[in-house]
Amino acid sequence: MIKGGVAILDFGSQYTQLIARRVRELGVYCELLPGNCTWGEVKKLEPGAIILAGSPYSVYEDGSPKPPDEVYTTSLPVLGICYGMQLLAHHTGGRVEGGHHREFGPALLNTKTSSLFTGIESGQRAWMSHGDRVTQVPAGYSVVASTDLLEIAAMENQEASRYGVQFHPEVNHTVFGSALLEHFLFGISNLEPSWDMKYFAVQAKQYILDELGENGKVILGLSGGVDSSVVAALLHSAVPERFVPIFVDNGLLRDGEREEVERTFREHFGMDLITVDGEDRFLDELAGVSDPEQKRKIIGRVFIELFEEAANSIPGVTHLAQGTLYPDVIESVSFRGPSATIKSHHNVGGLPEKMNLSLLEPLRELFKDEVRELGRELGLSNWMVSRHPFPGPGLAVRILGAITREDRDLLQKVDRVFIDYLREENLYDEIWQAFSVLLPIRTVGVMGDERTYENTLAIRAVTSTDGMTADWYHMPYDLLAKISARIINEVRGINRVVYDISSKPPATIEWE
Ligand code: XMP
Repeated sequence: MIKGGVAILDFGSQYTQLIARRVRELGVYCELLPGNCTWGEVKKLEPGAIILAGSPYSVYEDGSPKPPDEVYTTSLPVLGICYGMQLLAHHTGGRVEGGHHREFGPALLNTKTSSLFTGIESGQRAWMSHGDRVTQVPAGYSVVASTDLLEIAAMENQEASRYGVQFHPEVNHTVFGSALLEHFLFGISNLEPSWDMKYFAVQAKQYILDELGENGKVILGLSGGVDSSVVAALLHSAVPERFVPIFVDNGLLRDGEREEVERTFREHFGMDLITVDGEDRFLDELAGVSDPEQKRKIIGRVFIELFEEAANSIPGVTHLAQGTLYPDVIESVSFRGPSATIKSHHNVGGLPEKMNLSLLEPLRELFKDEVRELGRELGLSNWMVSRHPFPGPGLAVRILGAITREDRDLLQKVDRVFIDYLREENLYDEIWQAFSVLLPIRTVGVMGDERTYENTLAIRAVTSTDGMTADWYHMPYDLLAKISARIINEVRGINRVVYDISSKPPATIEWE
């Protein structure tokens, strides 16, 4: 799929994913490979250019990641960023030195004539983050940029199509970063900006047809969230007769969620949607359970049982589709190795093996915002594709302590008031995730002439890019006041509202 795209070698820098984002934004497909992969693995992708990314390591350090030697001799254009530039220098006859001051932050870049800097004015801000530096360029290279503190901030060997920059063009603070990458991709490497979601949709449909063969049939656990909704729309457009989405209503969804999912997928798209009414099963099994992990385990198990039951009623199923995204894939192939954190949230792990089905993951090359764009391309409403994430266990992890139907009803009402308000105020899209948490605490209040003794509600809104870290949303006071008043006035049973001002880490986004 990558033919003519970019292979990005990852040496563990926090910015590597960002390089991939930028390259794709410019319409060029790219994939990340662990920096110490083999040349065979690089060639397999048939790239049209290579980017060597940054790293927390020094090239001199024992155990520092080394790319295959062929990256220094290949006829493909190579751009080294930070550590990538130091690798180019160190391995082809230049000099890299440590022991200088670490430089972190903005610097003004003085540029010379270079195809990297065409049309980019000298003296603009670039983002630095490095300890080591190149102090002598290899033979054949010339220095094409410097800063007050750094003599060699960029180098090039035009004949060999080798370029190195010490700063980070992928970071927004480097104001000309995208222009520089554009020059590398199009001016220098002659790549085609052919990657967009229209193109992806055509290829993904072909992939689905190939995977399913003549007689394959595919099912999907549709949750109503962005990822599974987009997979559903894609499968429906590729194999409408051989695709059955299964929606398990666990009784812990948002208010009106089931109706919305049924309206979108059954009525609007005309899919053969199976809805499993699991409310009683889930709520009965959860009765009296207050431990968060226990709740998750029960929900995961019951989900699998009900899903399997529904799946077994469909004849001829061969494949199970899942909405795995590229960041999950990167997690597992990254140079730093897989991290355990996000995996524990995957609620249907092990299902394909258990049911003896092959796995179909048509979104595994996409970032979240690409998934949203694809969804729009496939006819999902903007409302549907720009929704906040919602956890698999749903409201179960937002009703602290044991769950009752009354509390579930109460939380659904409150959440609707809160979310509707954010939409009315045009704040919804600014916030990564917003929700309410029902606390197992009652407090005294006074309404009219009467003393009340009712529930306390916490509301939470966070900004984030991937859910791994998050900051609390700095909601203006007057809005907080209005939200609190609205909830207390409109929903009986709540007499106190508090706003959560913790970031992640050390808190998590959800309360359980
Ligand atoms: P935390 O609370 O871990 O949440 O900071 C990070 C993101 O993951 C979502 N989340 C879950 N999603 N099953 C899911 O499918 C889960 O058990 C689960 N727990 C948390 C959470 O809503 C946030 O977007």
